[in-house]
Amino acid sequence: MEVNNVELVMSAVSPTQYPTTGYPEIALVGRSNVGKSSLTNVLINRRSYARTSSQPGKTQTLNFYKVEEDLYFVDVPGYGYAKVSRQEREKWGEMIETYLTQREQLKGVISLVDARHEPSQEDVQMYQWLSYYEIPILVVATKSDKIVRGKWNKQESIIKKKLEFDKKDSFIMFSAQTKMGKEDIWKWIETQAFG
Ligand code: GTP
Ligand code: MG
Repeated sequence: MEVNNVELVMSAVSPTQYPTTGYPEIALVGRSNVGKSSLTNVLINRRSYARTSSQPGKTQTLNFYKVEEDLYFVDVPGYGYAKVSRQEREKWGEMIETYLTQREQLKGVISLVDARHEPSQEDVQMYQWLSYYEIPILVVATKSDKIVRGKWNKQESIIKKKLEFDKKDSFIMFSAQTKMGKEDIWKWIETQAFG
């Protein structure tokens, strides 16, 4: 998709703040600092529209990015950030769960993992949880520029095995730096959002 127009329309914590336009939505989940905002920026052809940082745990709300008059990307705050309190974590869990289980417009979730490592227990939990709710999942292994090309296949196997990856889901190797995988991710998004 050719993207010219993007707008952060809402930073929401509760359903009353979600946009009411009814466009399809694609959410991005993954642990803090994995590269959700960076992927968003690549998809919308912006250098730094979605705020990225070296400081994990920056994104605390559901950020709805309207792409043209077609769909929303929903940047979900990252999990696994050790410095947040238990209370904050519970609040986070509730916000995410409400959104992911009750949002009719949600057409699919992009679950980001770090291409270099075996998925964490939280990555596995998130994947299994999304599967349970029968939400279409695209696993994106990001930061692949940080490993040599010869290791991509092996890392893909390691990641899929740990997640107990289901063949009905999709998997794409990605790098926000080289933009590898961008077109395939867009194809998946368009299929989910518009059939
Ligand atoms: P939170 O909002 O805190 O949950 O983090 P996030 O998942 O949005 O991560 P973000 O996009 O802010 O990226 C975190 C750091 O990783 C930044 O320093 C990015 O520049 C870097 N980064 C993200 N993607 C890539 C990638 O594909 N390759 C490389 N080399 N660095 C990346
Ligand atoms: Mg972010």
